[in-house]
Amino acid sequence: GLTLTVNNSAKVKTPAIMLMLDPKMQGEEAYRLSVSAKKVVISGRTSAGIFYGIQTLRKSLPIMNAANAEPIMLPAAEITDAPRFAYRGMMLDCSRHFFSVDFVKRYIDLLALHNMNVFHWHLTEDQGWRIEIKKYPRLTTVGSKRIEGDGSVYGGFYTQEQVRDIVKYASDRFVTVIPEIELPGHAMGAIASYPELTCFPHRRVYEVRNLWGVEQDVYCPGKETTFKFIQDVLDEVLPLFPSEYVHIGGDECPKIRWKECPDCQRRIKEEGLKNEEELQSYTIRRAQKMLAKHGKKLIGWDEILEGGLAPSATVMSWRGEDGGIKAANMGHDVIMTPGSGGLYIDHYQGDSKIEPVAICCYASLEKVYSYNPIPSAIAPDKRHHIKGAQANLWAEYLYTTDIMQYRAFPRVIALAAASWTPQDRKDY
Ligand code: ACM
Ligand code: ZN
Repeated sequence: GLTLTVNNSAKVKTPAIMLMLDPKMQGEEAYRLSVSAKKVVISGRTSAGIFYGIQTLRKSLPIMNAANAEPIMLPAAEITDAPRFAYRGMMLDCSRHFFSVDFVKRYIDLLALHNMNVFHWHLTEDQGWRIEIKKYPRLTTVGSKRIEGDGSVYGGFYTQEQVRDIVKYASDRFVTVIPEIELPGHAMGAIASYPELTCFPHRRVYEVRNLWGVEQDVYCPGKETTFKFIQDVLDEVLPLFPSEYVHIGGDECPKIRWKECPDCQRRIKEEGLKNEEELQSYTIRRAQKMLAKHGKKLIGWDEILEGGLAPSATVMSWRGEDGGIKAANMGHDVIMTPGSGGLYIDHYQGDSKIEPVAICCYASLEKVYSYNPIPSAIAPDKRHHIKGAQANLWAEYLYTTDIMQYRAFPRVIALAAASWTPQDRKDY
């Protein structure tokens, strides 16, 4: 409710809120917030630091009613603050349910308010492909829609222009958008559009999946044409995202088709691979080379450890912490997002008899808040490989934006504390 005039000159009449870059300050995202009788000074070494100082000031203001605004009192204070981790992320699954551009922006606003700086955007799935690819129009004309059990059509996708708009909006709030383009599993959105991408294109009718759970039909890494498709898709996707990191999924890929596919078996033989796990890791390594061509680095779910980890890959540990511990001890960077740590915030946070239906399980606010992303099983000289933490908001049961916000909050705020505040400064 406040309207403040903006003054860019160095000479400012007090009272004022002053924003200042301070090159001598330690810490990329650190800030100092100083409140005295005449002025509020927010300083940071970077604009991001100043931005976080502004968020703290915003959160310390009372909720205001512009109609009968009382004078605002701020207690005198000197705050010096900096994040524990450089990566403070939230994933939103926009495939199982689709969220509008405006709603995604609202979500980014709320992340930024809580000093979160990564929006991991889950864009492709068995249940729908959500990003326009000009070279493969069926990905959106076919792959973005599913026929629900009652015969209705559910769908939606983001045009490349909308993606650019969201990425810019996020970047203006110091939020990096990391897209996730899933391979080699969770790919029915693509396969329903182009059945030749799977091992047995003529064996059944492929349709975008309308049940939750995982398809057994996945990309066929035995065929060169599959890699051509992935390359083409990445060639269009990567330039939309300034992020250095790109997520290629890698989780929950059933190997049952590969075991009987002559193309996959030939690939295994020709490449001297031991088994289907190594065929998965071969696929991930090829994806990594495609990313590298664009100067990008690969993030994958912890299954990318199976069959050998691609060099320099970053592991997102979701099946507990074991994958993250193993990867960090091998010298790989890690993002912690274990369900066991409460970071699957599609789970219930309260009484399951009262809350909107969730996929399963329980992740209380206190559990999220208490989560420490650095397990003691990581050798002290490897702990710097833990880049941060992320909560995942899978969307199977996010039937409305109200339910989505209910699941996200207040646990996002708890995650913000778990990824920003030093362990010994937390106090639930
Ligand atoms: C996952 O939850 N399948 C990463
Ligand atoms: Zn195959």
